[in-house]
Amino acid sequence: MSSKTIRRIAINTGGGDAPGLNAVIRAATTAALNRGWECVGIRDGYNGLLMPEQYPDGGLLPLTRVSVRGITHLGGTILGTTNKGNPLKYPTKGKDGKLYEKDRSDELIRMFRKAKIDALISIGGDGSLTISNALAQKGLRVVGVPKTIDNDLERTVITFGFDTAVSFATMCLDRLHSTAEAHQRVIVVEMMGRYAGWIALNSGISGTADVILIPEIPYDMKKVAAKIQERYSQGRRFAIVVVAEGAIPKGGTHFVKSTEVGRAERLGGIGDRITQDIQEATGRESRCVVLGHLLRGGTPTTFDRLISLRFGAAAIRALADGKSGVMVALDPPTVRYVPLAMATRRMKCVPLDCDTMLTARDLGISFGD
Ligand code: F6P
Repeated sequence: MSSKTIRRIAINTGGGDAPGLNAVIRAATTAALNRGWECVGIRDGYNGLLMPEQYPDGGLLPLTRVSVRGITHLGGTILGTTNKGNPLKYPTKGKDGKLYEKDRSDELIRMFRKAKIDALISIGGDGSLTISNALAQKGLRVVGVPKTIDNDLERTVITFGFDTAVSFATMCLDRLHSTAEAHQRVIVVEMMGRYAGWIALNSGISGTADVILIPEIPYDMKKVAAKIQERYSQGRRFAIVVVAEGAIPKGGTHFVKSTEVGRAERLGGIGDRITQDIQEATGRESRCVVLGHLLRGGTPTTFDRLISLRFGAAAIRALADGKSGVMVALDPPTVRYVPLAMATRRMKCVPLDCDTMLTARDLGISFGD
């Protein structure tokens, strides 16, 4: 299909929000309008199309130069998002009143046609882009944009949102150092990141943590305690332990907070457990801080703003070139296009032999192994 057939495109944001979403929306909208295309935003993932009756504006927000003005630096998303609206596994009430997962993707494709939407720019993480790939297989023209603070998407050097999350986490570690030292405490800092340790690793090194626990390396509490005792015995009477929410004890499993129909499991709680275990094993007073959703909020860093703007504009160029079923990806110094199927095939975890890991080891940081 050539770009001539595009008259109207939609943009949506799915999954957890990440700083930079609005910058992508602004760049994609502006680049589309400059080509003479009409642009609409779908409210709350795909809910604007699947449940139009729930929205006073019918679920589609016209995106104009005015509506995307002054939003580049804002966190969140002007379109709204959800991580419970997967059209392939849509939570639907059965006759027994219980929630079941229902495939509503064919219905969604019909809704796109009914709304005269020729193509979609889908901004999301692995879950949202897996959906985008399925919709592309069903004939919808789709270009994906890699978003997530977790940085766990394959085939792109980085996802937008990650740099902001790491920068904020590092700032928190700097602040926690002074109070840890003042009270001679061990402070355990739990960070998001799902099943990958990118945020914990990058901020832990930058914020000079003593121990970093990541899902890629199951930890041994005896080793963690030994590292803390060694530090105290050297006269450094405090310690900072960074733990990814997806970290696992040797022989154990992830700490799951809750499971719900139609969404991925929620992780969390490991920070408290580790804090108790450290206090018991070392006798050192310990405290836990959970950064949680603070990592997803606020103004995107300059790096995140710029890649978000580059991704948004590149996504429109892809559509104009007749591409579909691809994701824009950062491959410095340029932005490339990779098949959505490749980008979502598996999770990008921290390679244990990467130079960032080697740096941490050279600096004497313990991974509890
Ligand atoms: O994927 C982004 C993320 O923030 C993860 O790091 C975290 O596990 C999850 O989303 C939290 O989701 P929710 O906002 O639904 O609690």
